Amino acid sequence: MPENNAPTPDSSVPASDARRREPMFPDGPAPDPAGSHHERRIRSFQPRRSRVTTGQGESLRRLWPKWGLDIDGLSRLDLGELFDDPKLPVVLEIGFGMGEATAQMAAADPGTGILACDVHTPGQGNLLGLAERNGLTNVRVANGDAIILLREMLAPDSLAGIRVYFPDPWPKKRHHKRRLIQPEFLALAATRLAPGGLLHCATDWEPYAEQMLEVLSAAPDFENTQPDGGFAPRPDFRPLTRFEGQGLDKGHVVHDVMFTRRER
Ligand SMILES: C[S@@+](CC[C@H](N)C(=O)[O-])C[C@H]1O[C@@H](n2cnc3c(N)ncnc32)[C@H](O)[C@@H]1O
Repeated sequence: MPENNAPTPDSSVPASDARRREPMFPDGPAPDPAGSHHERRIRSFQPRRSRVTTGQGESLRRLWPKWGLDIDGLSRLDLGELFDDPKLPVVLEIGFGMGEATAQMAAADPGTGILACDVHTPGQGNLLGLAERNGLTNVRVANGDAIILLREMLAPDSLAGIRVYFPDPWPKKRHHKRRLIQPEFLALAATRLAPGGLLHCATDWEPYAEQMLEVLSAAPDFENTQPDGGFAPRPDFRPLTRFEGQGLDKGHVVHDVMFTRRER
């Protein structure tokens, strides 16, 4: 009998492929559900499999079937069915890291559903554990590439907001193409945001902050919330994130960029 009811190996695939495909947790997040880690497309994340702690693994095993979602790019998500209250406005958070700030925002605003997306397995386990310990019913954890989630699985006008806090800055010039906030991403995000929906980004990497402001200001579907066309003051609802803390320790300056989806 395979350990932990693990799937029986498929004899039609070479052993190395089978190992790569094998889920780390039988009912937990699938490794690379849409195959995007091996696609030739330019990605904004670094494919990695970090070690999960016992507690994170335990949370993944128990809570993934209830609150987890694999981004396989195959089905259309009904956000009304994802949360207990079908009327909950839903905000997508892209790249929640370890999820501490996500859990804080969910606790502070139970009237908003947070669909939190990342490829980072330890963070997924951590956020599920935080949600359970804090009695949060308004967080769902999505595993995989946010681009595929937006493009293939979310309906037009379905999101009340998108949050991108401290996205990987990709500081080397040859990696700038991997930055998430680019015109193509904005065009896609605009289709999934409801009119008036808020796109909120924050970064401690000055050149990326400038790029965010520049591409968003040039995007026809978005309007700056700031009448002077500049950066936004940090809103009270955004808690200090783990990456932000690390940036501040290095003396970095943090910028928030807040634009709304224009009416069509
Ligand atoms: C620098 S970390 C910031 C984490 C967290 N927001 C914070 O401030 O502590 C960026 C995170 O975004 C995730 N990420 C990058 N591109 C992504 C994508 N296309 N889809 C999902 N997650 C992504 C990475 O895996 C990483 O965990």
